[in-house]
Amino acid sequence: MNRPPRIVIIGAAGRLGQALQLRFSRDASVIGLTRSDLDLTAPESIRSALEGLDFDRLILPAAMTAVDPCETDRETAFAINAAAPKLIAEICAAKEAHMTYVSTDFVFDGGKSGAYHEDEVAKPISVYGASKLKGEANVLEADPGHLVVRVSWLYGPGKPAFPEWIVGKACAETEIALPGDKTGSPTSSVDVADWIAALILDSARPPAAGIYHLCNSGSCTWRDWGQACIDLAREAGVPVIAETIAANTLADIPAFLAFLAPRPANSVMSNAKLAAFTGVEPRPWRQALREHFVESGCLDKYRAAPCG
Ligand SMILES: NC(=O)c1ccc[n+]([C@@H]2O[C@H](COP(=O)([O-])OP(=O)(O)OC[C@H]3O[C@@H](n4cnc5c(N)ncnc54)[C@H](OP(=O)(O)O)[C@@H]3O)[C@@H](O)[C@H]2O)c1
Repeated sequence: MNRPPRIVIIGAAGRLGQALQLRFSRDASVIGLTRSDLDLTAPESIRSALEGLDFDRLILPAAMTAVDPCETDRETAFAINAAAPKLIAEICAAKEAHMTYVSTDFVFDGGKSGAYHEDEVAKPISVYGASKLKGEANVLEADPGHLVVRVSWLYGPGKPAFPEWIVGKACAETEIALPGDKTGSPTSSVDVADWIAALILDSARPPAAGIYHLCNSGSCTWRDWGQACIDLAREAGVPVIAETIAANTLADIPAFLAFLAPRPANSVMSNAKLAAFTGVEPRPWRQALREHFVESGCLDKYRAAPCG
């Protein structure tokens, strides 16, 4: 390919979509599509948005990502997370364009004690996880040359996630508890965008195909992630009033967060396949989190208007 590749991103206004748009604009000509350009529940809208476009690669981070509403609206969850990706994968195959479907650690049931590898059988325990697993299968069935990337515990600039939520909570409350028995790998959207670029933009080889796990290195409990967030915030001058986060259990969650869907207790994923294919070693999750707090400006509002 002598010209810069043409990349379509569906879901460009989302958390990962924004990071992808920024990263890929450096090396490619990017067409970012949002809900105002197409509705993933409406096949005709997908066809009409894509049919006139000429592109080499397409990335689909858009999804029904709210895990609990998926439990009560299974039809819409499967329409957005499974049927739409199938149609998009078929359109890409017909155009001889490569597709990347962004999936999730929630395809696993969480019963394993070590890290999940790409070739392990996934057994989701929520409608969200089941709809995303079906989306993965649909995409790879449409073209085995397409790519599925599973990400976990995602945060990043442009759209608040767990780190911003827990810092806000720690500014307002002294007593906070989070599950000490839920384990995973917090992952930066900025890093995910870099890894996807390494997987699909290297002009020296064809884009990666099949399933890859993309997460920062290392793992922690949900409680330890929260503690790291408030420690870094305090270090950065945010007047948090919660000293430490206590450990409760996943079984306690429904009482205080009103969760409907079961969450996998362990969703740590191995990123060895990513490292072997790209030569990129994902950095540790704490390092990426620190950079997020320093560079995203997400803590500014807590410094400016301290609460107590
Ligand atoms: N967040 C996590 O912790 C996490 C963890 C593992 C995997 N993932 C996966 O990573 C991907 C990106 O996650 P994210 O956190 O960046 O998600 P996000 O911020 O919620 O973005 C999802 C995007 O999808 C769009 N969308 C939803 N329904 C749509 C529809 N019917 N038609 C068109 N667009 C629609 C949303 O549009 P609006 O902005 O208009 O609502 C939003 O921009 C998802 O595939 C998710 O399953 C996320």
